[in-house]
Amino acid sequence: MRYTVAFPAGNTEYFSNSDYSQLLQIAPIASSVIITDENVNQLYGHLFQDYKTLIIESGEKSKTWETIQLLAEKLAGFEVHKGMKLIGIGGGMVTDVVGFLASVYMRGMKFAFVPTTLLAMVDAAIGGKNGINVHQFKNMLGSIRQPEFILYDQSFLETLPDVEWSNGFAEIIKYACIGDAAMFEELVISTQITFKTRASNLTSLINKCVQQKNSIVLADEQEKGLRKTLNFGHTAGHAFETLYHLKHGQAVALGMIVALIASEKAVNVSTDIRPKFVELLKQYSLPVSLKFDVDKVINTIHLDKKRNGGKIDFILLESIGNAVIHPLSFEEIRNALQIFAHGSYS
Ligand SMILES: NC(=O)c1ccc[n+]([C@@H]2O[C@H](COP(=O)([O-])OP(=O)(O)OC[C@H]3O[C@@H](n4cnc5c(N)ncnc54)[C@H](O)[C@@H]3O)[C@@H](O)[C@H]2O)c1
Repeated sequence: MRYTVAFPAGNTEYFSNSDYSQLLQIAPIASSVIITDENVNQLYGHLFQDYKTLIIESGEKSKTWETIQLLAEKLAGFEVHKGMKLIGIGGGMVTDVVGFLASVYMRGMKFAFVPTTLLAMVDAAIGGKNGINVHQFKNMLGSIRQPEFILYDQSFLETLPDVEWSNGFAEIIKYACIGDAAMFEELVISTQITFKTRASNLTSLINKCVQQKNSIVLADEQEKGLRKTLNFGHTAGHAFETLYHLKHGQAVALGMIVALIASEKAVNVSTDIRPKFVELLKQYSLPVSLKFDVDKVINTIHLDKKRNGGKIDFILLESIGNAVIHPLSFEEIRNALQIFAHGSYS
């Protein structure tokens, strides 16, 4: 299915449940440059061997200014100009880097994505946020610019390691928590196998996430309010990710437990939800506990972009499917972290 979403920052054409071979029609070889990572290139480089291709090291460590500089030099070497298009083929690391590079190279050029991880398909490729990390500051430099198109081909997921499937499910569980109680129940009665082995189930799940994210971004592209709800689990999650070198989805899973604990005190979410939620994370092979230093996590949260005076805008749950933005003091965050640190969930 092919459709266009008109965001304020630009239109994105979605090629949902599509086939990679479409790329040749929508991204001419002469005017496109592919950027991918080593793993994806090793597995799929033969598919785009006719394109000019730049390859970066795999992993979060490449989401840096050094990568941007290196890529910009190589683009200049290829005489890439504003009229051409960058195509990011890979997971969220690649889409974040390519979106950012395209927004600053020659003051902005066109770009598009072919997401190859579940996490990028349901989240990172969508909505125009891009960025790089600066030392321990996650996504400190970035912009909001929409990709021209996003081409979905689920067959890329056939080579995705199990741990990366789980990472993708962390963001899917996030969508269920903040806005789709029916999806939450669907996940409860399913397992990863339900989606790995039945392509139509997976397509429908991916489409629900894409639709939810698009409707939120359409209402609030610049993240003044509603879009912040997509950060459920991300405030503590980003601190865990940076300090303990966890994968993004694993860190978000842990951060969602902290946010749920905070929700019990601050907005009276039912305490029955936490055990059910923790079971769901386990069902999708996500971590539910971590040994961590509360002070270090608090210090990292102090530097968070969502800081609002002496408080942090936290995303809390009033119930499954209903998220609210609620400023929490550092004392309230510390309390939730301490309860999480001393809890026994596994
Ligand atoms: N911009 C946004 O809105 C947004 C939203 C969520 C997450 N993110 C960012 O996304 C990043 C995480 O994305 P990710 O989880 O996709 O990580 P990733 O891009 O690092 O990919 C994870 C691993 O899977 C490998 N891989 C990719 N496709 C594969 C395939 N088809 N088969 C086998 N291996 C494959 C990669 O090489 C990498 O080793 C984080 O940096 C996070 O901050 C951004």
